[in-house]
Amino acid sequence: MASDGKPLRIAAIGDLHVQEDSSAPYRELFGDISREADVLVLCGDLTNFGKTSEAEILAEDIRSCSIPVVGVLGNHDYECGQPEEVARILHEGGMKLLDDQALEIEGVGFAGVKGFMGGYGRGELAPFGEPIAKLFVDEAVNEARKLENQLRTLRTERSIAVLHYSPIVGTIEGEPEAIHQYLGSQRLCDPIDRFDHVKAVVHGHAHHGSYEGRTPRGTPVFNVAQFVLSRRFGKPYVVLEV
Ligand SMILES: [Fe+2]
Ligand SMILES: [Fe+2]
Repeated sequence: MASDGKPLRIAAIGDLHVQEDSSAPYRELFGDISREADVLVLCGDLTNFGKTSEAEILAEDIRSCSIPVVGVLGNHDYECGQPEEVARILHEGGMKLLDDQALEIEGVGFAGVKGFMGGYGRGELAPFGEPIAKLFVDEAVNEARKLENQLRTLRTERSIAVLHYSPIVGTIEGEPEAIHQYLGSQRLCDPIDRFDHVKAVVHGHAHHGSYEGRTPRGTPVFNVAQFVLSRRFGKPYVVLEV
């Protein structure tokens, strides 16, 4: 429960893919969300190519939000090789970017990282052989470690983990099996399942995936990629109560 005993209403949406030729693409939607929820969570791929012009357009829409905006970057936000610039512009717009530090809003903890790929189960890439293969696996391991460190600092009874890549196969069902290893890594599950206070996980990235799944320990996971939500609910965001 939030500090006043009421559940916190958390609106979540991923994969905004803002393009540089768009004009206030999320202004109206963020207005609706501000009336329906207490916090807005953005699950990465905020821009289409990681261009500063795209980030500036989104930052303007974020300025119009009257509730706190929290989130992580996605792989698309890295495409132009300047994720720090994208993050800085969004931060100036008022978004709180999770990556190294968790935060608390009205008694609920928020921990988040982009995450990385690497696969699940028998399809998981092992850190074996060539140095580049080990580096690839290290990236997922490092993201999982950053998430664990944030979750460890939280003293809240309830928290939510925010990712771009999926920690489980369940919410990418619907995508071709041949690309499952590019949609996330099960290494992200370990920190989530280590802490009792994690009540839900939200992620994006798998545009053709499934809305709902669970970690091995049973923590609910939601794929909030806007395309998944629009197919399921007829609107591109969902409001979760935590
Ligand atoms: Fe995306
Ligand atoms: Fe993505």
